Amino acid sequence: METINLPISKAALIGMGGIGCAMAQQLINNTQAELFTLSRQSRPSFKCLNEQRWRHVTLSDYNQPELQAAAKTIGSLDLLICSLGCLHSDQLSPEKRIESLAEDSLMHYFRINAVLPTLVIQSFWPFLKKAQPTLLACISAKVGSIEDNKTGGWYGYRASKAALNMLIKTSSIEFNRRAPNLKMIAIHPGTTDTYLSKPFQGHLPEGQLKTPESCAQSLMKTLLSTTAPSGSFLHWDGAILPW
Ligand SMILES: NC(=O)c1ccc[n+]([C@@H]2O[C@H](COP(=O)([O-])OP(=O)(O)OC[C@H]3O[C@@H](n4cnc5c(N)ncnc54)[C@H](OP(=O)(O)O)[C@@H]3O)[C@@H](O)[C@H]2O)c1
Repeated sequence: METINLPISKAALIGMGGIGCAMAQQLINNTQAELFTLSRQSRPSFKCLNEQRWRHVTLSDYNQPELQAAAKTIGSLDLLICSLGCLHSDQLSPEKRIESLAEDSLMHYFRINAVLPTLVIQSFWPFLKKAQPTLLACISAKVGSIEDNKTGGWYGYRASKAALNMLIKTSSIEFNRRAPNLKMIAIHPGTTDTYLSKPFQGHLPEGQLKTPESCAQSLMKTLLSTTAPSGSFLHWDGAILPW
């Protein structure tokens, strides 16, 4: 596994789903960083071989007061990654036709995919305002690209990821002035074998489904080496995606 050499002494990961856990693993194994993970799960499925450098914070539902309290407790950071997202659940499947749209499902998509990551940005950015470079990345999705939308469908997921992208871009413009060393990135992980993609893996060409480990490895490599400006939307391999 490739070693990450950039100086990260303290990092936080929000959301311990498939990709979040694999990124936590990368950070513990390949950096010397102290790592804070935040999740609704009290025991995320992440095997930490260096317990001394890992602290876990259990949240109820990522509401604004608990995110703000967690950010204050954790304090100054060099890197924050937000890995929250929802495409389906027992009650929810992505809409293929306009007739399938429902107010509560649209609200749910927007809450998990756009509102919660924005509350994360709001709560944590003051702790990433430093004299040296810091990074705040949100895992977005290529299907949230308006320009790249060739096939339609998945209304709520697409639109909420497009909203997330706009919120990241907008905050990056404000932070260029208020926290000039903080880089804001939206990044597409590629289709990865997690709970989120499980029902939609069937149509994928052979060899295109990534393991969470290979996904996390390429995301970390790209995030820590990209020269893209703050407020960019990146593919996992580092290419710039159209908004
Ligand atoms: N897997 C893919 O193929 C793929 C492709 C494109 C983009 N993405 C994006 O990658 C990111 C990580 O997804 P993943 O593949 O790791 O999916 P996952 O295993 O399903 O993890 C989803 C994450 O979202 C949080 N979440 C889900 N429902 C929630 C709810 N109702 N309330 C609060 N939090 C909720 C979970 O938080 P807890 O830790 O609190 O459980 C978990 O950390 C997401 O932003 C997703 O949109 C994934």
